[in-house]
Amino acid sequence: MIYLDTAASYPLLPEVKVVLSDAFESLYANSASSHLLGEQVSDEINKVREQLADQIGAYPSEIIFTSGATESNNIAFKSLLLGNEISKDKKHIVTTQIEHKCVFAICDYLKSIGYEITYVKPNKDGIIEADSVANAIRPDTALVSVMHVNNELGTINPIADIGQACFDAGVLFHSDAAQSFQKTNIDADDLNVDVMSFSAHKIGGPKGIGAIYIRDLRKRHLMPVIHGAGQEDGLRGGTVAAPLIIGFGAAIKYFEQYYSTFKKKEIKEYFLSKLNQGKIKFSENGLNTLGHCLSITLPETDTETLVRNNENVLSLAQGSACSSKEIEPSHVLTSIGLNRELADKTFRISFPLDIEYDSINVLVKEILKHS
Ligand SMILES: Cc1ncc(COP(=O)(O)O)c(C=O)c1O
Repeated sequence: MIYLDTAASYPLLPEVKVVLSDAFESLYANSASSHLLGEQVSDEINKVREQLADQIGAYPSEIIFTSGATESNNIAFKSLLLGNEISKDKKHIVTTQIEHKCVFAICDYLKSIGYEITYVKPNKDGIIEADSVANAIRPDTALVSVMHVNNELGTINPIADIGQACFDAGVLFHSDAAQSFQKTNIDADDLNVDVMSFSAHKIGGPKGIGAIYIRDLRKRHLMPVIHGAGQEDGLRGGTVAAPLIIGFGAAIKYFEQYYSTFKKKEIKEYFLSKLNQGKIKFSENGLNTLGHCLSITLPETDTETLVRNNENVLSLAQGSACSSKEIEPSHVLTSIGLNRELADKTFRISFPLDIEYDSINVLVKEILKHS
């Protein structure tokens, strides 16, 4: 199987598999236990907390482990807005039309309890412009949330400029970094972010683990999303998932190296040049995109038959990364002006880092056959 859907989930890295299995085997104690084994587990968790903090220029005390980016996004909105951190008079949120669906679900909930939401439109290249965000901010804006890299287009948003606009307006700024972490540089200060969401399974770590960065976490008055026995600074209850966190740490350690080797292969350029050689009509959606990800519309290709005839050979995503079985056209593609027909003829291709040129040749041959 040629797997071309790593933005949805990246296969477990071999190094992570070993670390994970060792951790399940030997680090079985509860990290809250005061005996030696418990303390060992707690130390290992805190090493990963330091490692993640180091990667993004934060303090370990500003990192909370969660079940993934969906939960982190829930914390970012609900813990900040429903705690005592922000004045209750401020009931306006600025986010964008191209966020992950979980952000829309959170905003729908907040709308049902009295919040007003502004969804900023991207430009035609799929980028959220800092000016558009700045113009949407009002005196009653409580929070701005703009994703770092879009999961369907791979476009990189100008987070530092957006963060600066939020800082100037005195509004807290959250960014969902599920798709950008370890694929592009992140420094919380340089990017002017206050809160950031992360997920391990997008970088070859295990599913069900992620993290949230919250600037000055200990000084804030946040509402827990999971009430529990005080774990993770009281913000996120439940026995801490030590082996998964340790696996996340291994993914952080190895993924970045693989990514820098991958960049040298220039796979995207190879793929596009092969399409050109085959005289296949296509257009690429989005500008300023990450190297492993592209959104491509093939207007003269029978994409439906292509997918059906290759279901045992190619794993291709049509529409959104995480809900590609939906029949509705992708909200991201429609927000940049694609109609239903073109959206249906669009693939989001996200390469694994060990992809071979031969696999790209197979893909191009199949596209050619159906064009
Ligand atoms: C941008 C973005 N945010 C959030 C998520 C959800 O992450 P998780 O599966 O860790 O909950 C995903 C992918 O699924 C994503 O691409």
